[in-house]
Amino acid sequence: MKVGFVGLGNLGKAIVDRMISQGINLYVYNRAVEKAKNYNHFLDPNELFYNSDVIFIIIRDSKAVEELLFKRIEPQNIENKIIVDMTTNSYSFVKKFYQKVRELNGYYFEAPLLGSIPAANTGSLVMLISGDKSRLKLIEHIIETFTKKFYYFDNIGEPTKLKLLNNFALAGILQSIMETITIGENMGIRKDLILEILSNGAGRSYFLEVKKEKILNEDFSPQFSIELLHKDLNYFFELINDFHLYSHILEPTNKILERAVNLNHGSLDISGVYLVLKKNIFNDERFIKGLELLRTGDYFEAHEVLEDLWREMPVENKYRNFIKGIIQICAGYYKHIEQRNPNGARNIFINAKNYLSKYLEENQVIDVKKVIANIEKIIGMIDKNEDISSFKIIE
Ligand SMILES: NC(=O)c1ccc[n+]([C@@H]2O[C@H](COP(=O)([O-])OP(=O)(O)OC[C@H]3O[C@@H](n4cnc5c(N)ncnc54)[C@H](OP(=O)(O)O)[C@@H]3O)[C@@H](O)[C@H]2O)c1
Repeated sequence: MKVGFVGLGNLGKAIVDRMISQGINLYVYNRAVEKAKNYNHFLDPNELFYNSDVIFIIIRDSKAVEELLFKRIEPQNIENKIIVDMTTNSYSFVKKFYQKVRELNGYYFEAPLLGSIPAANTGSLVMLISGDKSRLKLIEHIIETFTKKFYYFDNIGEPTKLKLLNNFALAGILQSIMETITIGENMGIRKDLILEILSNGAGRSYFLEVKKEKILNEDFSPQFSIELLHKDLNYFFELINDFHLYSHILEPTNKILERAVNLNHGSLDISGVYLVLKKNIFNDERFIKGLELLRTGDYFEAHEVLEDLWREMPVENKYRNFIKGIIQICAGYYKHIEQRNPNGARNIFINAKNYLSKYLEENQVIDVKKVIANIEKIIGMIDKNEDISSFKIIE
């Protein structure tokens, strides 16, 4: 069989290298041509499809697969081809792909993978696969070069359901272990010791086994990137919505990944969520940004950014009302300057003072005693009808 391969991303490249090392002759196509240069490659995916009997695909997401199969590839190049799509897809898309390829007289296999680069390197990935069973026989020997096991399912969509369930579990395990480590470190315990104890205790898991060294050395070069796990959780959300189901941990888990993406950590390995979780309130990017906006007089934005942080803090968090106090300062300025409501502003500044007076000893980032004295001054200015716009409560 003539073998084609599309997608030389982190996992795709590792699979191709493994297949070649096991004696498979293949041609590749990758959108960014530089990644394909060291392999037998085609510049046009149509040529790859035309010249192959079976085409393995592993690209970013369902939109990319849709674009490739139904916009770039000409319909006649799909006819009679076996297409093994190892991308982690959206459940609804995968059923469409199967149908559309069938209509073009091709054979679509939905074939998501469990495992990452280390498993690809040793040929021990696990594949969940569904599609035409008789055609599968023709390609089993190729699949076996990079998998230790594959599970066949009669119903299209089942592999994707299970793959997304698996990645939901991965996200939960990832965050529980990473948060345990960062909380432990913030309490003054050495990271290597925490990892050692977790490995011998409740944290013992495949995840910790493969990521321990990366976490220890803070080597967040990607094996499986944060943005891809974020994508998968969004697919999982769509899936459970379809089944009218609800998850208690999906939202907070996904939020951490979203924050990592917003901080430009999306291309890092999933273990890189460490960088987000390591933060405490005072080095959280929203706290820093909120204070900066307050200092420069962008009260509305400062309020929004700090409120986002506040909403995420559990009610029992010691600093929740501290943040609330600063939010009230932003709101007080906004009420006075933008809404021209001095009485309303006065009440809000009093609230700010009440919240912050519980933190008189706090002077890590802000000298609270000084801030309270400044709030009293500003209330005095409001009472005397003075302009408060250039007076800074927090310098
Ligand atoms: N990495 C893992 O450990 C792992 C494990 C299981 C499943 N998966 C799944 O496998 C897939 C690939 O993962 P990866 O880690 O290899 O991803 P990656 O490193 O981010 O690479 C993405 C690949 O998709 C290609 N691509 C993106 N958009 C495209 C488009 N519109 N048209 C054509 N090609 C496009 C990229 O081409 P360019 O080079 O041109 O950008 C690149 O080859 C994802 O669905 C992921 O969820 C990954």
